Amino acid sequence: MLQEKFKAVDDYIKERVGIEDQILIKTRESSQYSTMPGADISANQGKLLYILAKSCCAKNILELGTLVGYSTIWLARALPKSGKIITVEYEETNYNIACRNIEEAGYNDIVTIIRGKALDVLPKIEKNHLYPFDFIFIDADKPPYVEYLKWAIKLARKGSIIVLDNVIRNGKILEVDSSDPKVIGVQKFNDYLKECKEADFTILQMVGEKEHDGMAIGVVK
Ligand code: DHB
Ligand code: MG
Repeated sequence: MLQEKFKAVDDYIKERVGIEDQILIKTRESSQYSTMPGADISANQGKLLYILAKSCCAKNILELGTLVGYSTIWLARALPKSGKIITVEYEETNYNIACRNIEEAGYNDIVTIIRGKALDVLPKIEKNHLYPFDFIFIDADKPPYVEYLKWAIKLARKGSIIVLDNVIRNGKILEVDSSDPKVIGVQKFNDYLKECKEADFTILQMVGEKEHDGMAIGVVK
């Protein structure tokens, strides 16, 4: 019942301030062929990332977890012409779909998709001096979220914005005896925020098209 209302309100917002063009619609629809159908962010969440990236005047963006490139396209649109995005995807199926979507969207000059495990790719990004990133979006596998955050801070600068998806997981983060590795991963991450000295964070609880979840949003000190 409530979920229907949350979805209807999400649609209401989307019709006003989250309108997708054909490229975004086609990209979102392609997620049905990915390894995680529907795990892409919603249009309204895409608009939020777009606004956050614009408001920190991002030129250099890092994304972990491309899926099919839906969030990547929202972020690409927040960049100036000279802007760059590095996005990392582990699953070959998703990588192939994302490459097609980014090419069809006309963002090959802006977006570099790297296929690999984020924890293998991040040291290479450091070694090749491809940072600092002004904006970092983390939406990859959940168990290493604390490690991803530590890497994000290392590859950021003062004032960089860091956003992590799926930190509420239908409220399952309240289950102290959870055996779900995804829940445990985000619980450890949420607890880590308490001791994290390098960035200021908040957690936005969200309802809507993607049911009950949330994003952690932080700024590097
Ligand atoms: C899952 C991952 C996501 O990034 C998401 O947005 C929703 C669900 C998952 O692993 O279950
Ligand atoms: Mg996600």
